[in-house]
Amino acid sequence: MTHSRTRPAAGQVWNPEDYIGKAGFVAELGRGVLDLLAPRPDEHILDLGCGDGALTQRIAAASAVVTGLEPSAELAAVARQRGLRVIEGDAHDPFGQVQYDAIFSNAMFHWLRDPQQVIRNAFAALRPGGRLVVEQGGFGNVAAVTTALRAAMEAAGCADQARNPWDFPSPTTQRKRLETAGFQVEEIILFSRPTPLEAGMRGWLDTFAGAFLQDLPGDVQHVIKTDTERRLTSSLLDPEEGWIADYVRLRFHAVRPADG
Ligand code: BEZ
Repeated sequence: MTHSRTRPAAGQVWNPEDYIGKAGFVAELGRGVLDLLAPRPDEHILDLGCGDGALTQRIAAASAVVTGLEPSAELAAVARQRGLRVIEGDAHDPFGQVQYDAIFSNAMFHWLRDPQQVIRNAFAALRPGGRLVVEQGGFGNVAAVTTALRAAMEAAGCADQARNPWDFPSPTTQRKRLETAGFQVEEIILFSRPTPLEAGMRGWLDTFAGAFLQDLPGDVQHVIKTDTERRLTSSLLDPEEGWIADYVRLRFHAVRPADG
């Protein structure tokens, strides 16, 4: 397989310690989409954006032959320490010659610069009859957080430097992309999943908002994050349960037709 060098998705730079410490919930909450994948023994499965490999390991535990594809060298190294096979690469580049039985992805598609290109790549890398099973942020995901971030940037006089790195499509938009690439959509659903943030809103912003604020000096980022937290206190901070983010998930299962 040929893959280009590591290119962090949409300007996001992952720190493995932060990812594991503050984003471990991402894999925990990925169990539903793993059930939809239903990996079978000896199936060849590609995990797009495998991160630290926590979910990839569960696919391997079903005796599937799983390969991760991950653009961050640091996260790929952590996944390899779990004994997983991981290719360092960007999903926007072709995935190579292997024809997979299934391609899986959790919490990665919303980082894509060009989702249509990646969907085309997935189609080309599946055997006829193979399936693409994905969960990602969907339409309306972290809308309150994004609105507060933008307001805080505006208050700090740097609204024009906001870099929204995320794509949160509706089912209609994503279905259209899938069908344009030749997929048959078996199921596509959008659902709200309020998500408790163990590391708080500040931990979430430190881990995930880097790409949004990437053009700004550290001290300005600090001011904006503090103001964002303050703006969200009345809507996303529960006195008993703590910070809960307004996550909305898009989950889909699409098939490359047997004659496609
Ligand atoms: C998500 O999983 O919905 C998400 C993660 C990081 C940034 C934005 C959204």
